[in-house]
Amino acid sequence: MSVLVTGGAGYIGSHMVWELLDHGEEVVVLDRLSTGFDWAVADAATLVVGDIADEALVDDIIRKHGIDAIVHFAGSIIVPESVSDPLGYYLNNTVKSQSLIASAVRCGVRHFIFSSTAAVYGSPASFPVGEDTELRPESPYGTSKMMTELMLRDCAAAHDFAYTALRYFNVSGADPELRTGQSTKGATHLIKVACETATGKRDHMDVFGTDYDTPDGTCIRDYIHVSDLVNAHYLALLRMREGKGSLVANCGYGKGYSVLEVINAVKDVAQTDFDVRTTGRRPGDAVAIVAEAARCRRELAWQPRYDDLKTIVTHALNWETKLTRRNRQ
Ligand code: UFG
Repeated sequence: MSVLVTGGAGYIGSHMVWELLDHGEEVVVLDRLSTGFDWAVADAATLVVGDIADEALVDDIIRKHGIDAIVHFAGSIIVPESVSDPLGYYLNNTVKSQSLIASAVRCGVRHFIFSSTAAVYGSPASFPVGEDTELRPESPYGTSKMMTELMLRDCAAAHDFAYTALRYFNVSGADPELRTGQSTKGATHLIKVACETATGKRDHMDVFGTDYDTPDGTCIRDYIHVSDLVNAHYLALLRMREGKGSLVANCGYGKGYSVLEVINAVKDVAQTDFDVRTTGRRPGDAVAIVAEAARCRRELAWQPRYDDLKTIVTHALNWETKLTRRNRQ
């Protein structure tokens, strides 16, 4: 039995590969390397360069490697980009997922873990936000992921097939052993951008909006360490293999930090000051979103190990420094 990880050369996917290998699983990665890197894939995994919507290729991988579970990360992830290119997001995140799910159903893969997002909730009226909150995505990104969740729900009802949709809050940090980290070029995520600025790769960074209805006027998010996140996926895999059926669960810590609090944490850990400019709101941004995380802990017996902003920032900064050295070589 092997696990197929789509998008395994990307940020979260490459951490998932290590998590599976650390637990003795056989891993096949399918990635077209549009934003990921072949060097990010652990040597012990098999890398296939290709598209998740190439059904002949996916069917072949499933049969050849005896795939019993698919962990599906491949997709586009930038909220503002989805606002300007909605069709690109529906193609990559919804249409191509349909092809991948079709391959899974046709070839008898019974376990499917889907990388979903807190963006499916939009701006909930109150938080923490539980899984049963009405889904009202505010960006094409959120809608594209919601549609895939719905396809999975319907396939689980129609076929011998179980899925886990994990709705990620703000994933950040890096493998504590620095075997992998976030290497994406032109990244837009707050902690990554702040770490790039702290290490001199950018001469300044922007804060998008200081007039929100929050204590310091900037948006609030629930930042979760990538290693805790991928561990939740592994536990979800075990749960499905035990025959416990489908599950939709939030992945966050249930604590919110503002943009300014995060930037100050990066300055603190890096022991450096850098130029932070305030600018207008970014399209598609929700004001505040924090997870109600009880279901994940209860259903998966998930016990986060890095639930601390300073730890997340430290690992992210350590990776950024390593990446700088690597890129100079
Ligand atoms: N931000 C800045 N400056 C930057 C980058 C970000 O002020 O240079 C702000 C954003 O405006 C936002 C906050 O920092 O208010 C977080 O932005 P990110 O880009 O880091 O993350 P998002 O909240 O937009 O999106 C992420 C994931 C989504 C997920 C969402 C859930 O990409 O998949 O978190 O909260 F749905």
